Amino acid sequence: MNELNVVIDSAKASFARAATPADLENAKALFLGKSGSITELMKGLAALPVDQKKSRGAAINLAKQAIEAALNQRRQALADVELQAQLQAEALDVTLPGRQRGQGGLHPVSLTLERIEAIFASMGFAVAQGPEIETDWFNFTALNTPEDHPARSMHDTFYVEGGSADAPHLLRTHTSPMQIRYAVQHVKQQRAASGAGPVGEALFAGTMPEIRVIAPGRTYRVDSDATHSPMFHQCEGLWVGENISFKDLKFVFTDFCRTFFESDDLVLRFRPSFFPFTEPSAEIDIQFQSGPLAGRWLEVAGSGQVHPNVIRNMGLEPEKYIGFAFGMGPDRLTMLRYGVNDLRLFFDGDIRFLSQFQ
Ligand code: PHE
Repeated sequence: MNELNVVIDSAKASFARAATPADLENAKALFLGKSGSITELMKGLAALPVDQKKSRGAAINLAKQAIEAALNQRRQALADVELQAQLQAEALDVTLPGRQRGQGGLHPVSLTLERIEAIFASMGFAVAQGPEIETDWFNFTALNTPEDHPARSMHDTFYVEGGSADAPHLLRTHTSPMQIRYAVQHVKQQRAASGAGPVGEALFAGTMPEIRVIAPGRTYRVDSDATHSPMFHQCEGLWVGENISFKDLKFVFTDFCRTFFESDDLVLRFRPSFFPFTEPSAEIDIQFQSGPLAGRWLEVAGSGQVHPNVIRNMGLEPEKYIGFAFGMGPDRLTMLRYGVNDLRLFFDGDIRFLSQFQ
């Protein structure tokens, strides 16, 4: 009996020393393997007298079971250790902050355009978009600027292929062609609605909802310096009805500028000027009463009462319809709002500059 206990203790001790599953299997062989201690003891049974065989055999079996139980226990313990190590090695800290993605944002001029659209929308203006490649008709002729008119030369621009000799295609030099495009569309709808016959017959003199629209977008001219870029933005405004006057222009534009610059004491000046498509015409200057630009007159838009010839080209009877138009520069408004002094910064695409507006 004692001898068997010694074998059991020695098995337990060597299992305990096994640090890995492989060590443990080697240790197992010493006791339970082909020539292990237990196997040798079993072999010894053959030499015993019959009366001792049974009890000795049972005792050895008990010892064997004890060793197997110790082996399984150790196997389980080693597997647990291994599992814990693996869990630790592969641990995820779900509380760590994720890797951030770079965040984009709107270009400062886009921010201005959104702001302009929101302010005019609040005054009941629709927003229209039009083509950047225009025909000579919409860009000049329909706007009361015939081919030999001197005002064309200061707008001379990029002509593109397509079109014909008497109707060339060009990059629009201003957003004013949208006055014609939008109004013609509007009048066409009114004619259809009132059964007044197709456009091209008599000018429309029926009643219709007013035309009240802004048209922001890119425009092009042969110009390049700190305050001029060959591509720049404009935003056209047009309000035509039966009784729309210069007074309305003053009210609308003053309200717009004060809202845009968040400055109630901003002062506006309408300075007489000339545009072929408006009569009378005015440049609009603004003056801040405080801040770094205080006291200076800053030009922000051209404007005027829509010329009767332009009203006609819209398909409207000028004896009945009248209104105003303006064209402003969102790039310049952006420079004034943020205190930027070089227009080219907006179009260089330098992230260090652009990210300051987010
Ligand atoms: N289109 C003119 C320009 O580009 C601005 C303008 C628009 C003037 C509408 C009067 C009315 O300079």
